[in-house]
Amino acid sequence: MGTIQIENVSFKYDQMMDNLFDSLNLKIDESWKLGLIGRNGRGKTTLLKMLLGQLKYSGQIVSNLNFYYYPQTVVNKDLLTVDVVKEITQLEDYDLWKIEVELDKLKVDQNVLQQQFSTLSPGERTKVLLAILFIDESGFQLIDEPTNHLDIEGRQIVAEYLKSKKGFIVISHDKSFLNQVIDHVISINRSDVSVYKGNFDTWQTQWELQNQTEAAEKEQLQKDISRLHETAVKRENWSRQTEAHKNRKQYHEKVHLDKGFIGTKAAKMMKKAKTAENRVNSAIDEKKTLLKNIEVEAPIQLNYEKKNHPDLFVQVENLTLRHNDIVTPEVSFEVKRNHVVALVGPNGIGKTTIFRQILGLSQPFTQEGSIRMANNLKISYLRQDNELEGTIRQLAERKQISPELVFSNLRKLGFERYLFDQPVEKMSQGQRRKVALALSLSESANLYFWDEPLNYLDVITRQQIIEAIQKQRPTMLLIDHDQDLIDAVSSVKVKLHH
Ligand SMILES: Nc1ncnc2c1ncn2[C@@H]1O[C@H](COP(=O)(O)OP(=O)(O)OP(=O)(O)O)[C@@H](O)[C@H]1O
Ligand SMILES: [Mg+2]
Repeated sequence: MGTIQIENVSFKYDQMMDNLFDSLNLKIDESWKLGLIGRNGRGKTTLLKMLLGQLKYSGQIVSNLNFYYYPQTVVNKDLLTVDVVKEITQLEDYDLWKIEVELDKLKVDQNVLQQQFSTLSPGERTKVLLAILFIDESGFQLIDEPTNHLDIEGRQIVAEYLKSKKGFIVISHDKSFLNQVIDHVISINRSDVSVYKGNFDTWQTQWELQNQTEAAEKEQLQKDISRLHETAVKRENWSRQTEAHKNRKQYHEKVHLDKGFIGTKAAKMMKKAKTAENRVNSAIDEKKTLLKNIEVEAPIQLNYEKKNHPDLFVQVENLTLRHNDIVTPEVSFEVKRNHVVALVGPNGIGKTTIFRQILGLSQPFTQEGSIRMANNLKISYLRQDNELEGTIRQLAERKQISPELVFSNLRKLGFERYLFDQPVEKMSQGQRRKVALALSLSESANLYFWDEPLNYLDVITRQQIIEAIQKQRPTMLLIDHDQDLIDAVSSVKVKLHH
């Protein structure tokens, strides 16, 4: 039987201070169905790339298996899907039945092979790429977050599909998905990497037991950390108020006023607050290193403006959007104050298109029906894709948000500080998502449009988001395929179907 032996492997990216992996030792059997879990940025994707031999590390990885990675890069998306398949797999025409068999198991219509790859829905693309991965029966598949962007039905189909396979590593933050498909877990923790037999739930039970022991031993440390977090939150609220006050003055003050003076004073105060906050953060970091594997995170908060709100924010009546042969199903709904309205429906039905139309963003659709919006709303839009570029500071300044506030929110989301000056393009997928999320949290707003906020985010961050929405009850339009989130926060569900 084949194995993968990881012996004494250490690795870091160039600009990192510490090793991402430090003398890692693991033995994996080729028949295992492994779930690779861990918080964003812990090195899950990196570990798969090391197995593929794409990164230079010290130590050795011994294996005679053929590794295949999802998601593959599709260089030319304008090609017909069948040609994309041939390009990636090097299959000859007479062997194309192999892909047809896999597509069939994934419940994908064979006709997509004759369609341009770029015109496939996100769910179809995922399934085609997975089908390609499994045409070599003897291979060992490395599957990096297949569930993002998949609707509930799609997740179920992919889960069933993987259940029928053997010998793979899958990365996912979706607990119920993992529970169905895996029989072993590799967990990348704060201070080590461990392997467990069982599914996600089994892992979680053992993990919590282990944590309790550690926590009992280090109770005082945890108390200290919570107290420091509280100080940080207080300070941040205070500096946020000062900032808001400063902005109000700048916008509304018509009388004579020495703006220069207020500006300098506020800047000084901000600087002081920043120094103090840095001190608190260093203290938290220092104490955290003493707690080996426990994750300690402060609650997050939306910069939600509650004052003078209308009762009705958005009213959509008999809305249909058309472009060529795409037609969104007719919908009517209202977004009332403090309601979270969830748009739910399968991939490709037009949820994002409806969002963009309400937001008045340009797109080639003709509209039937009406959209009415209250006046003077401050809207924060979290887009579905990770499209951001540049440093966090640049992104914040572009949106006129205080970078300090964004940093402070990122810290609460478990973001390491050394990343603050990195360009977003160099970050892991989850870290990028956190930057987008932190920008939306920090922006002062009274209406939120959040399009699949949970994609790429780790389990702890998901929980933080759910708790923040439950606590603050912001007015929000929400799209997500995560059933837990929708059930936990939505006041109204708008179901879309053809
Ligand atoms: N090309 C790169 N150059 C520099 N640093 C990188 C690069 N790719 C990843 N990193 C950093 O290495 C760490 C591990 O990244 P990796 O993508 O492996 O994390 P991950 O566990 O897959 O996270 P996620 O859950 O967000 O996908 C992160 O801190 C990330 O910022
Ligand atoms: Mg990753």
